Amino acid sequence: MSASRPRTRRVARRRAAMRRLASPGRVRAAVAAWRRASLRVAFVPTMGAIHEGHLSLVRRARAGADRVVASIFVNPLQFGPREDLARYPRPVGRDRALLAAAGVDLLWEPRPADVYPPDHRTRVTVEGLSGVLEGAARPGHFTGVSTVVAILLGVVAPDELWLGQKDAQQALVLERMVRDLRLPVRVRRAPTVREPDGLAMSSRNAYLSPAERAQAVALWRGLAAARAALAGGERSAARVERAVRAVWRRFPLVRGEYVAVVDAATLEPLRDLRRGGIHPGRGRRVLVAVAARVGPARLIDNLEWSRR
Ligand code: PAF
Repeated sequence: MSASRPRTRRVARRRAAMRRLASPGRVRAAVAAWRRASLRVAFVPTMGAIHEGHLSLVRRARAGADRVVASIFVNPLQFGPREDLARYPRPVGRDRALLAAAGVDLLWEPRPADVYPPDHRTRVTVEGLSGVLEGAARPGHFTGVSTVVAILLGVVAPDELWLGQKDAQQALVLERMVRDLRLPVRVRRAPTVREPDGLAMSSRNAYLSPAERAQAVALWRGLAAARAALAGGERSAARVERAVRAVWRRFPLVRGEYVAVVDAATLEPLRDLRRGGIHPGRGRRVLVAVAARVGPARLIDNLEWSRR
């Protein structure tokens, strides 16, 4: 018998046996038992509507840990009053099947009162990083994100927290929260997963009609134009921004919101991208972040580039 077969069977058995829990106490106890057995635990928080981007997080988490916990919780606190909380997709059965097949050991599906009991009073805000870009367009959004992730981490207490680069600002805010609150968890970022034409995978892509879906590729095409400009030696942030907007003009269903050329570690706007330019003290990594509306969907994407 080949040496790999028993392991394959073990993995298959474990995948088939994904546990689903709602109660925070039972999640805490299950993870604590694994940690007592010296098993390494990774955590992938989601709002469901699972797509390949989430599954790549699970697979990466799986590769570096003995057990993977995922959560599905559509967090009301991170939606503004006129946003899409009510119609956010909730394909629960499909989500469970996909997460189980990708190797999740424990799926936590808290009820709203498990996360926010009626007497809940605490909010977590990462100052400075939460009010710009997405935070300026969606006031209170990142307070909702950091509050819920602090609560989820408090219950799961994993060794690793996995986040996607598609939401680069969210990852930065949460990395900073973990650092500032001395939370004993390592934050890991996974690259953006894209459709074959370059569109970043997102649960909100489900809102797009076929015509809108075809034009949503404008976000990535704009970023590709920014990357080409940077590779060609362009070092003016304003001209990089103009390169993105010039692409967007070819897509009439796309209503651009912002193109931001910022320091990837601080989100401070940059003007001169030369290494020794007018921001010599700033970090080497530059983030080009974009947001646009395409029909009913508000989409974001980004590109990281290193100054040499
Ligand atoms: O990225 C998301 O899906 C959410 O913002 C998160 C991190 C699960 C918190 O609700």
